[in-house]
Amino acid sequence: MQYYKMDIASIRKDYKLKELSEYQIEAKPDKQFEIWFQEAVKAQVPEANAMILSTVGENGRPSARVVLIKDFDENGLIFYTNYKSQKAKEILVNPYASLTFFWPQLERQIRIEGLIEKVSEEESVNYFNSRPWESRVGAWVSNQSSVIESRKILEDLYKELDEKFKSMGTIQKPENWGGFRLKPDFFEFWQGRPSRLHDRLCYEIENKNWKIFRLAP
Ligand SMILES: Cc1cc2nc3c(=O)[nH]c(=O)nc-3n(C[C@H](O)[C@H](O)[C@H](O)COP(=O)(O)O)c2cc1C
Repeated sequence: MQYYKMDIASIRKDYKLKELSEYQIEAKPDKQFEIWFQEAVKAQVPEANAMILSTVGENGRPSARVVLIKDFDENGLIFYTNYKSQKAKEILVNPYASLTFFWPQLERQIRIEGLIEKVSEEESVNYFNSRPWESRVGAWVSNQSSVIESRKILEDLYKELDEKFKSMGTIQKPENWGGFRLKPDFFEFWQGRPSRLHDRLCYEIENKNWKIFRLAP
């Protein structure tokens, strides 16, 4: 087999679509997030709701993966997962985590940091019940992040549980499945600009108020 050497270093892009200034930025970061999120959806950024969740467990090794944002407000950003997964185990020993959105069509990145907590059982149940049937069965099937011998094990279990729940006519939320809320204490809004002079406007909590500052790109 022949391999072709790709010149990765020559892949470059000059960013010039937009700018972000102190004059146009919102006083509250959740409002600024809402505006950018709506713009990403409007611009049809593929999977604009996908965010990279980075966590650090007790061994000090960071780990990162994509999860989907399901809600947000001034109290934080919510995603759903398995409470026994690797990420959940890490969050339970070290609740500090970060979220990263990258929306290339808008030349934008958002970084968010803060503390994670579980959402209420009621919130998790309400969201679980709103999911499609197949996703609800899937939540029962997957013992997320555990080693499995084959795909067949998953498919057989799916079939078995699908039939069982259909005969019962309902599916309850598994105990070990639910939501987490990241309560932010830091936001960075990054807008690509020409000549690598990007705009980076940040929010940090100071005496319960949001302080805004600019970082060098
Ligand atoms: C586009 C996309 C969306 C995803 N959404 C979720 C999600 O909302 N919740 C989740 O638990 N995993 C989601 N995953 C899977 C995770 O990236 C990851 O594989 C899984 O949660 C196990 O991670 P862990 O072993 O670090 O806990 C998604 C993956 C992709 C690529």
